[in-house]
Amino acid sequence: MIRDNLSVHLIARPHGEPNLENFSFVKSACPPVPPGGLIYETMFLSVDPYLRGRMNDVKSYVPPFQLGAPIESGFVGKVLESENEKFKSGDLVFGMGPWSHFTATDGKNLSRLPPEFPPSHWLGVLGMPGLTAFVGLFDIGQAKRDETVVVSAAAGAVGSLVVQLAKQTGCKVVGIAGGKAKCDYVKNDLRADFVIDYKNENVLKSLVERVPDGVDVYFDNVGGEILSAVLSHLKDHARISLCGMISEYNAKEPPPGPNLRPLLSKKASIRGFIVSEHWERRAAFVAEVAPRVMAGEITCREDVINGLENAPAALFRVLSGKNFGKQIVKVDAL
Ligand SMILES: NC(=O)c1ccc[n+]([C@@H]2O[C@H](COP(=O)([O-])OP(=O)(O)OC[C@H]3O[C@@H](n4cnc5c(N)ncnc54)[C@H](OP(=O)(O)O)[C@@H]3O)[C@@H](O)[C@H]2O)c1
Repeated sequence: MIRDNLSVHLIARPHGEPNLENFSFVKSACPPVPPGGLIYETMFLSVDPYLRGRMNDVKSYVPPFQLGAPIESGFVGKVLESENEKFKSGDLVFGMGPWSHFTATDGKNLSRLPPEFPPSHWLGVLGMPGLTAFVGLFDIGQAKRDETVVVSAAAGAVGSLVVQLAKQTGCKVVGIAGGKAKCDYVKNDLRADFVIDYKNENVLKSLVERVPDGVDVYFDNVGGEILSAVLSHLKDHARISLCGMISEYNAKEPPPGPNLRPLLSKKASIRGFIVSEHWERRAAFVAEVAPRVMAGEITCREDVINGLENAPAALFRVLSGKNFGKQIVKVDAL
């Protein structure tokens, strides 16, 4: 069966903030099922900050997107036709795939979704952002009961789970987020002990007021000035889990680095990590977190935008802080 397809391609690399001129919407015919493969229809796309890095032509931990080729991200889809013995028509699958309505694939890198949760959860709280929170807080940050944990972008996909896991471990938690609505959510729904609205407060001053004894673990999602502020208020042997630098992703020039002297005087350690090197922790993560999501002990907020044609705008939302929760695109069929 011939299907009219639509895909979102990268056609120009952004310098600074991306805009619609960096993308094109390409119509084509979806190829037939490859021998031994399958065709799936995309249901949900994950929109993540790291996609901005892949729009640059620089060597990184993931290769750049190619000009004239579709953007790719995590997705959940439904199998429409299959010659692959592992999948049948109607199966829900997830993996990495193009921003397209339909995709023909050999199916090698797809997994079948367990039926218990809303499918989009496998892109957020139970997916890559959730695993990032788990690995970054416990393996990298070594957070323990009674310690003080600070997390930035605390209302977002990664940060919101960091707040809740740290609280449920018995830590004192400070969430940093932009604006009253997000701070209220972090305090009232995620149950952080304290919040700091970095858009309306002096972060260092507020941090010193909220937790005068200092910080044991800083889970850094943003870099820049907020990282500099938290570095000035560490406890001895603090750990900084360097997860993301979203304040710098659209920067045209490398910004000046923070002053590292506090790391020396506090005998602190700082460690970057990339979640894709920690997939072996996925089973432990799902075993620990999925039952708590099922029991309603962990809450997750998803910010869902409808329509494949709105996927670039969804990325702009994440990069400008307009998303409130895990940014997802619900892809409508043609
Ligand atoms: N190391 C890894 O393997 C790994 C894996 C996944 C994600 N990450 C990183 O984790 C971070 C969070 O990712 P996510 O998927 O959970 O996104 P998210 O938090 O759901 O969305 C991004 C949030 O970042 C905040 N932000 C944007 N610009 C900012 C700025 N200039 N200063 C401070 N905050 C800003 C915004 O929240 P506010 O409105 O509160 O500003 C925005 O909502 C990102 O840096 C991402 O690259 C790393």
